[in-house]
Amino acid sequence: MENLEQVHLQVKEIFYPPEDIKKECIVQDYESMYKKSIENPEEFWSEVASQLHWFQKWDKVLEWNFPYAKWFVNGKTNITYNCLDANIEKGRRNKVAYISVDEEGNEKKLTYGELLEQVNRLANGLKSLGVSKGDRVSIYMPNTVEAVISMLACARIGAIHSVVFAGFSEGALKLRINDAKAKVVITATYTKRRGKKIPLLPIVKEAIYDLDFVKNVIVWDRDRELEESEFSKKFVSFEELIKTSSPYFNPEVMDSEDPLFILYTSGTTGKPKGVLHTVGGYMVNTYLTTKTVFNIKEDTVYWCTADIGWITGHSYIVYGPLLNGTTIVMMEGVPVYPHPGIWWEYVDKYRVNVFYTAPTAIRMLMRFGDEIPAKYDLSSLKILGSVGEPINPEAWLWYYKNIGRGKAVVVDTWWQTETGAHMITTLPCYPAKPGKAGKPLFGVVPDIVDKEGNSLPPNTIGHLVIKKPWPSMLRTCWGEPERYEKYWKEIPGNVYSAGDLATIDEDGYIMILGRADDVLSVAGHRIGNAEVESAIIEHPAVAEAAVIGKPNEIKGESIKAFVVLKEGYTPSAELVEEIKETVKEVLGAIAVPDEIEFVDKLPKTRSGKIMRRVLRAKELGQELGDISTLED
Ligand code: PRX
Repeated sequence: MENLEQVHLQVKEIFYPPEDIKKECIVQDYESMYKKSIENPEEFWSEVASQLHWFQKWDKVLEWNFPYAKWFVNGKTNITYNCLDANIEKGRRNKVAYISVDEEGNEKKLTYGELLEQVNRLANGLKSLGVSKGDRVSIYMPNTVEAVISMLACARIGAIHSVVFAGFSEGALKLRINDAKAKVVITATYTKRRGKKIPLLPIVKEAIYDLDFVKNVIVWDRDRELEESEFSKKFVSFEELIKTSSPYFNPEVMDSEDPLFILYTSGTTGKPKGVLHTVGGYMVNTYLTTKTVFNIKEDTVYWCTADIGWITGHSYIVYGPLLNGTTIVMMEGVPVYPHPGIWWEYVDKYRVNVFYTAPTAIRMLMRFGDEIPAKYDLSSLKILGSVGEPINPEAWLWYYKNIGRGKAVVVDTWWQTETGAHMITTLPCYPAKPGKAGKPLFGVVPDIVDKEGNSLPPNTIGHLVIKKPWPSMLRTCWGEPERYEKYWKEIPGNVYSAGDLATIDEDGYIMILGRADDVLSVAGHRIGNAEVESAIIEHPAVAEAAVIGKPNEIKGESIKAFVVLKEGYTPSAELVEEIKETVKEVLGAIAVPDEIEFVDKLPKTRSGKIMRRVLRAKELGQELGDISTLED
């Protein structure tokens, strides 16, 4: 089993929440609330959903037709009504919704009233281009409030957004636009990273040149540098569209089970899966988890450092915090530019109360030394969140001591693109154990089982499964229902298989150890081994490739590729660079292997399947395990 070493690294200490935080907790009695959510889900979820606005109330909370679930059956709502209009009705018109900052300290603040107006204008703009309910819109934007406006404008008219991380290159972008058959793409001229402009528009142009179904590209011309001639019937200006459209728009009445968005994520094959989330259940659970895990109050200032291109950005930069009427900080750029204290500078400047980031960033920032965060006043912080990969106790303790100064709680939230919302985490009201995510959230029934689905005793490593449907669960994989069903059929017992290895201790705390399948976690980004292999094979000299993950102190995992060259090619340093460049073009910089080794052949099973496991064990000097199926 992988990552076993982490089990031995556990910190035995238990960290109790400081009294002042505990006193303020929205959830005071986790155990009884959890019990109710499991024993009486109808009543529990009805109460939560009733805190939101519905045009028409649901008839039934859940209809479970294994493995297909419908939540809040026949309920009618619009998530943007709850994100925007409902907040204005509650007196938050002039409350700041977003503080969108870049690396240079430029900020754009938008109140709830202003956000609603911008969203309505773009919604009208999209309508004028012929986009309607059910159409797909791809969004390839920097991590700025303009991206949020784009997502919300889609949701307002009932179009399905498909956000593509702006770090992906044209191959990955094209695949996603093509799979979703997007009618419109929303993009910007560039995004900023380390003070440099990274062009986005040229990548979109490359990606769509032969995709006739893309009717329009809406371009946010950030520096007004495009010539008149670059706009056409097809390429329209984001700002013009907003300026010339009406600020009034009646939100589309959406059925609870109408699609809200598609978000592509890596699986074990070369093609990413289009995870589909629907309106009602996703809305209710992102609302509840944001509120209870981050203890959102009227004056909370909240900052999630993710990018809107990932699920964390969707659920916890956009929908969850807006549903709670929060003031949200978002930043375009990297954590170390222009200096490695930039995040702490912003925490200090904006008096951030809730800060949510990934272990990989914490491990990177740790390296710059304790004196960097020590320069700032971080006393506003109350809750520190972690997400995306296991947080090692060392990073947990550094976060707790140097950022939280022992006065804030750390919540380690386990969840996935597929789960839509947090599933397992400690809540601020009960003690945390470094390295362990914690207990299940409301309505979540996890178990640790063997491959046959038998429950395992405490402290035994097994597969993490979820035994009951939950409101924000994925509903299908876009165009590939068989891939959706696989989640529920992988392990016997009609359970959802998360694909992670985990253990549970005698107090019910779950520790996530990492993926059980061929999916890598590089700097908290989920990348399929097979996806990188397919990209490598696009290089004309490559016959075959196998990719493995190696433990990496900062990134969690680094990528190593074993490459077999075609007849007539010889290994060289130039070929290494060329292959890396190919991966960068096809997938993007995040998927480029750190190491490439040329080999004569790859270990395979007799049926021809590459045994990555054997390569990995050899690379790491571990036992080879069962190799009876090895070809030779
Ligand atoms: O392996 C788990 C890891 O990230 C995977 C989900 O990746 P993705 O869909 O990209 O979503 C990431 C953000 C929610 C999981 O299967 N993972 C996520 N959170 C944690 C984690 N591993 C350990 N601890 C976590 N808190």
